[in-house]
Amino acid sequence: MIECVSCNAKYDDNEVIYNCKECGSVLEVVVDIDKSDVPRETFDCRKDVLWKYKEFMPVDETKIVSLDEGGTPFCKCNKLGEKLGIDLYVKVEGSNPTGSFKDRGMSVGMTKAMELGVDTVGCASTGNTSASLAAYAARAGLRCVVLLPSGKVALGKLAQAMFHGAEVLSVNGNFDEALETVTALALEKHLYLLNSINPYRLEGQKSIGFEVVHELGWKSPDRIVLPVGNAGNISAIWKGITEFHNAGYIEDLPMMTGIQAEGAAPIANSFRKNTMDMVPVQDPETIATAIRIGAPVSSIKALRAIYDSNGYAETVNDDEILAAQLDLARYEGIGVEPASAASIAGVKKLVEEGVVDKGEQVVCIVTGHLLKDPNTAINACTEPIEIDADVEALKKILLNK
Ligand code: F0G
Repeated sequence: MIECVSCNAKYDDNEVIYNCKECGSVLEVVVDIDKSDVPRETFDCRKDVLWKYKEFMPVDETKIVSLDEGGTPFCKCNKLGEKLGIDLYVKVEGSNPTGSFKDRGMSVGMTKAMELGVDTVGCASTGNTSASLAAYAARAGLRCVVLLPSGKVALGKLAQAMFHGAEVLSVNGNFDEALETVTALALEKHLYLLNSINPYRLEGQKSIGFEVVHELGWKSPDRIVLPVGNAGNISAIWKGITEFHNAGYIEDLPMMTGIQAEGAAPIANSFRKNTMDMVPVQDPETIATAIRIGAPVSSIKALRAIYDSNGYAETVNDDEILAAQLDLARYEGIGVEPASAASIAGVKKLVEEGVVDKGEQVVCIVTGHLLKDPNTAINACTEPIEIDADVEALKKILLNK
């Protein structure tokens, strides 16, 4: 069953619907499982991928479209953790098949598309959603149309969308405008929309929450921190953790903490005013192009997750994002794209502000791989030294250091 998160209107699972017909709000798929039906040991001996939690994925198991997404690395980061005075873990979502967490949502969303028998799928994207959609559409054998904000998509993501055979449309406008356009097209039934407004996308992404508490030995960390753009992922992770809590698998809940870029921070602005109202940012701007979003469609779900979990929202500027990206790469060997590093930058700021306590167990979700945005990575480094293939020349350089 699909339910409106605001007025609780109910819809059939097989209705193609993105917003509530009664009040216009966002929808979610209702999943209610108890440990007496599915004991948590069920998941222990299965292959470590998203579908090991298949009982919680409300789609037809015989139609699964998968690239073995999920089961991503969960790395304890002692060096950065010690610097910050916290117990820090990083969930490396860049290790998914197309290099971002979107693959989880796309696997379940594409499975739903197969169930519904659609022939064309589409999305607007700051890059990663389009890369993932293109790959999963190829695997499913469906036509794929993606709308990207012109000139604002990192190179790796653009290459993926094009190479997997999507019809790539470069929109003169930002992500919010592209999403509005493609949503109108979807409402006229020209394509099946696989942005996170589609509640089945979030069903896949909630598995990040499942994996985190499972990996901690059926315990919740004190806090989960992640970058927030269109606000689907924070909502999804909270939904997943809440489902595991309701099932009786875990006792505690984490403080959901969303980090936004200073120039694209409508959710953090709402949090500061302690309101559920979200005022869109008109011209969002940040070097973290993945989260260059002014009007997040899942703001209601995200703000609820933050308030209900006693969590927090904060902003970081581009310099802080780039510094955190470099720290993660140089201290821990984990390469992430700028948006992902917002989580680390956010934790640092929240420790300094005293919001995050010393010794807290914090899990940062790093959402996309370093290679997604090679230009930003190269610009942060000095150029390689050119030398002749000559031992003496090489020695001179190495011994000089
Ligand atoms: N991190 C990365 C790397 C992303 O690509 C995105 C969103 C986010 C964080 C934010 O997640 O939107 O669920 O709050 N990227 C979308 C896209 C918008 O089109 O690829 P969110």
